Amino acid sequence: MGKNYDIKDLSLAEQGRKRIDWAENEMPVLRLIRERFGKERPLKGLRLSACLHVTAETANLARTLAAGGADVVLCASNPLSTQDDVAAALVNYEEIPVYAIKGEDNETYYGHLKAALDHNPHITMDDGADLVSGVLKQRPDLIENLLGSTEETTTGVIRLKAMAADGVLKFPVIAVNDSDTKHLFDNRYGTGQSTLDGIIRATNVLLAGKTFVVGGYGWCSRGIASRAHGLGSNVIVTEIDPIKALEAAMDGFRVMPMVEAAKLADFIVTATGDVNVLDAAHFAVMKDGAIVANSGHFNVEINIPALEALTSEKRQPRPFVDQHILKDGRRINLLGEGRLINLASAEGHPASVMDMSFANQALASEFLLRNKGQLRAGVHALPKEVDREIAALKLKAMGIAIDELTPEQAKYLSSWEEGT
Ligand SMILES: NC(=O)c1ccc[n+]([C@@H]2O[C@H](COP(=O)([O-])OP(=O)(O)OC[C@H]3O[C@@H](n4cnc5c(N)ncnc54)[C@H](O)[C@@H]3O)[C@@H](O)[C@H]2O)c1
Repeated sequence: MGKNYDIKDLSLAEQGRKRIDWAENEMPVLRLIRERFGKERPLKGLRLSACLHVTAETANLARTLAAGGADVVLCASNPLSTQDDVAAALVNYEEIPVYAIKGEDNETYYGHLKAALDHNPHITMDDGADLVSGVLKQRPDLIENLLGSTEETTTGVIRLKAMAADGVLKFPVIAVNDSDTKHLFDNRYGTGQSTLDGIIRATNVLLAGKTFVVGGYGWCSRGIASRAHGLGSNVIVTEIDPIKALEAAMDGFRVMPMVEAAKLADFIVTATGDVNVLDAAHFAVMKDGAIVANSGHFNVEINIPALEALTSEKRQPRPFVDQHILKDGRRINLLGEGRLINLASAEGHPASVMDMSFANQALASEFLLRNKGQLRAGVHALPKEVDREIAALKLKAMGIAIDELTPEQAKYLSSWEEGT
């Protein structure tokens, strides 16, 4: 192929292939879909531009879409999340054009998004709605050929719903994040485990006996809180939603405002999808040596300019650790430049949860094509049957059998006459 890609180093391809194969072992549901796609070729002739974290799991999704007949290009959905060896393997062995380099600057990042849109896609696949946003702002000419889009994450779905409310979203989008087999597993267990993995790889600091503050108690943050608790940390949760706060309290965590929690914290991790969850008032009261990180989608949850303004000197004691020495001498350690720490300093979610997330993505593309012209502009969930089928396949792959309703039970559950 000609150089219709932009990656770090093609010679990393062999290492990337090993990593992709290793991940595939844990992705049985996606493998079944790939086998079917290979036979049926349901995506034949479809141009698909994907903007996802370029990881080994994503590579297996890209291979699945290509097996279905799609002409796929891939760019990164975050400047720090690319696995350069995986990008090389996709270009070298799968002939999938990839535009992604770990650590790329903002200009390169947006240049790569542009390259993905230049593919003139029938379907865009997003993790954070950057491609859809690019179509609406820079390339409205693409709307004519666009069947629709799919969206991976909570923040992307929130952005898309805002576009729909403003009346600017002119095509259907499937909110993959809204499938139960996505957010209940990927966000909770995937983000839970990989966020802790990222913090540990970046710092190698013991979590047992430490005070660990989690910003938010949504799907991601409750996963992080339970994993930190499991490693022996004393966990505090902060929230703005009274119901979530109550759940956190009844799950056994202390709940308090961030300005109180920040005084006690050895670690603070945000995963809210909100802006400035950690701000100047919080940096002002933190202990010397506090470690702060983010696992929410954008690098806006920690107000880094506010931290910079308090900083007199900055050091980098380890990769992915920026130590800010404040004017009063306290040190605050910011991990991964405030970007999703599980992808910046670790490898993102384990393949076993991405198996279900990406099964949803693959089936969402097929769903968009099958329902061409029938879906209204706006944000849609995948049908419940698809969700249940993915869960059933995953259980089967895990060797777990469950009960079936007896005819008597089915009748009982659908009737209202029977009481005590
Ligand atoms: N790191 C990853 O790999 C990964 C994976 C999935 C999702 N995400 C991202 O993580 C973020 C959270 O996703 P989610 O699915 O858990 O969302 P969610 O909606 O389930 O939870 C977010 C929670 O944050 C709370 N919140 C909002 N503002 C707050 C504030 N100022 N202080 C304290 N709490 C606040 C909300 O009340 C809510 O309970 C999103 O940006 C999402 O895109 C990251």
